[in-house]
Amino acid sequence: MMTVPGADGCDQLVDDGGDATLLIHKGKEFEAKYAKDGSLPDPASTNNAEFKCILQLLKDSIPLDKTKYTRMAVQCKGVSEETTTGVLRLREMAAKNELLFPAINVNDCVTKSKFDNVYGCRHSLPDSIMRATDVMIGGKRALVCGYGDVGKGCAFALRGAGARVLITEIDPINALQACMEGFQVVTMEDCVHEIDIFTSATGNFKIITLEHMKKMKNNAIVCNIGHFDNEIDMEDLEQFPGMTVENIKPQVDRFVFPTSGNGVIVLASGRLVNLGCATGHPSFVMSCSFTNQVLAQLDLLKNWKETKAYKNDVYLLPKHLDEKVALLHLPALGAHLTTLSQEQADYIGVKVNGPFKNDTYRY
Ligand SMILES: NC(=O)c1ccc[n+]([C@@H]2O[C@H](COP(=O)([O-])OP(=O)(O)OC[C@H]3O[C@@H](n4cnc5c(N)ncnc54)[C@H](O)[C@@H]3O)[C@@H](O)[C@H]2O)c1
Repeated sequence: MMTVPGADGCDQLVDDGGDATLLIHKGKEFEAKYAKDGSLPDPASTNNAEFKCILQLLKDSIPLDKTKYTRMAVQCKGVSEETTTGVLRLREMAAKNELLFPAINVNDCVTKSKFDNVYGCRHSLPDSIMRATDVMIGGKRALVCGYGDVGKGCAFALRGAGARVLITEIDPINALQACMEGFQVVTMEDCVHEIDIFTSATGNFKIITLEHMKKMKNNAIVCNIGHFDNEIDMEDLEQFPGMTVENIKPQVDRFVFPTSGNGVIVLASGRLVNLGCATGHPSFVMSCSFTNQVLAQLDLLKNWKETKAYKNDVYLLPKHLDEKVALLHLPALGAHLTTLSQEQADYIGVKVNGPFKNDTYRY
């Protein structure tokens, strides 16, 4: 895995969700452990399906090459991370001083999270539900769990398609935002029995549990657009005694509870629904994200070859690059930007060519 012919590994990493970064870090950690006491990682030690894969991979790899990931960690001069969940992991590693190379948080570029996460999901969530089910969204009651960037995009889209949208949130600021947009903020327990379409968008886990699914209406649609499938308690659902599973078509399964006879329709097996049941975000919005990735990679290269200013920590791209990404995308939409006069620029305390906002501006 991640082998580069003729080299110890890649010089720089573009990651999405942090799995490649995690593999290098865990690989180095377990190789050191093996060198010390001969012990190998145990895939049975975790219930997390992704982490199980990583442990299995390392268990197989270490006896064949005892320093593969240790060398790879030395070779890697930095990572640029695409998504909310991956950045969370990077920050945790940096806080524990465990990060092995500098990281650029691409997700929190304004032209990434306020575009891809919001407008990308606004497009690709309904696209995936429609492709998977052909159900009429108008008139249905739809619950979006999490009203962050992704949740906002999902909620706007479902409302736009005519659904009555409800929100669950844990953060009072996001909950208040949802209220001010006219969405009803509820707890799962309040509404689980009356919702037609459930979408989890939290980046957290155990959001839609087996107990919730038992209480759902017959043929409620359940999907997840957050990075990991553990937002929905798929394992407990799949292992429920007497459960029958009707595969309606690829990526669409109806789980029928034995006693009630009620079924829940799970999309993409609880994995990212917009990737499993549709084709992800449209290329235009991904172009914003990937332009940030390219700029981040160039920044890491410059740091490696010239400036050497970054420590093993998580960095944001400077504001002028974020503005550049937006600027590059405006002509395609036929937008004409107003140019500040020097006098106006001086009056609001910016340069004529930007940056136009300070780092605390929230857009
Ligand atoms: N499918 C895609 O195309 C796509 C695109 C971008 C991001 N993502 C992923 O989507 C997830 C969310 O990303 P985001 O940028 O919206 O993050 P975010 O932090 O902006 O939003 C998540 C929201 O969920 C809320 N939340 C957390 N636990 C909750 C709980 N138990 N119940 C209800 N709400 C809860 C948080 O308060 C927050 O407001 C992440 O896993 C991210 O990686 C997916």
